[in-house]
Amino acid sequence: MKRVMVATWDFGFKAVAKGLAILKSGGSPLDAVEEGIKVVEDDLEVLTVGLGGLPNFKGEVELDASIMDGGTLRCGAVGALKHIRHPISVARKVMELTPHILLVGEGALEFALKCGFKQEFFWKPNAREKWVEMLEKIKREALEERSFYGKVLRVMRDFWRETVSVIALDTNCSMAAGNSTAGLFMKMPGRVGDSAIIGAGIYVDNRTGGAVTTGVGEIAVNYCLSKRVCDLMSMGLNPHEACEKAICETLYLKNFINGIAVLALNNKGDVGAATSLKEFTYAYQDDDMDRPELKKIRGILT
Ligand code: GLY
Repeated sequence: MKRVMVATWDFGFKAVAKGLAILKSGGSPLDAVEEGIKVVEDDLEVLTVGLGGLPNFKGEVELDASIMDGGTLRCGAVGALKHIRHPISVARKVMELTPHILLVGEGALEFALKCGFKQEFFWKPNAREKWVEMLEKIKREALEERSFYGKVLRVMRDFWRETVSVIALDTNCSMAAGNSTAGLFMKMPGRVGDSAIIGAGIYVDNRTGGAVTTGVGEIAVNYCLSKRVCDLMSMGLNPHEACEKAICETLYLKNFINGIAVLALNNKGDVGAATSLKEFTYAYQDDDMDRPELKKIRGILT
């Protein structure tokens, strides 16, 4: 069995390269996922992931992240976590050190500080400026439309590159998955998205494979999207078929403005993806490759 790493979006390139190097040097899939995601959390050019990125409506950055081990099904997550540089590492501590799965807000911060993480305050370049600019734009247009959050989602339509979501497969078929995001830009304070919800933004089981999402988190939560894709794979669909079917199911009732993407990797190393966004890019690397490759897919409706 070859080692494989996949991750969402162009910035997933760095996560995949780092993660595969860790697998090759004997690290576990959990290490590969965590360290890969940390690279993107630290990247000053990625404003949608990590501390200092694009904030909520009030100008506060609230981070969501989760991690899951495909062998034990153990998992940990944080939601609306402020001031911590690596929410993915706090999620791992939730998995390893607590009897719980999800900690949010103040409780998550308190737990992180007890674990030794440092509280930090900074903006990535341009993040604050983009918030001010968007606030003005939305306020202006919302006054005309009288529907503030509907307007937010429409303004965001072409701005969808948010979560870094990663799946790792090792030579012995052990798997892990994780993700991290600053969440939906201009979200309501306290909103927690799919990235912190096991079964929505992330699911992995060594017996089948894993699936992760990116896009409007509410869709993934509403349709339990990652678990749905894993269930479809366990019924015999290949990752591509499972992703397409699950995305089609999310479109049936037309409840949401904008879309979602799902990326899946089964325990044989086969990959699939589908999206109801205009397009979606993911990074892929296996043992036979020197560097990750970016693969672009078109949206199911385009
Ligand atoms: N998919 C990330 C979010 O909706 O927060």
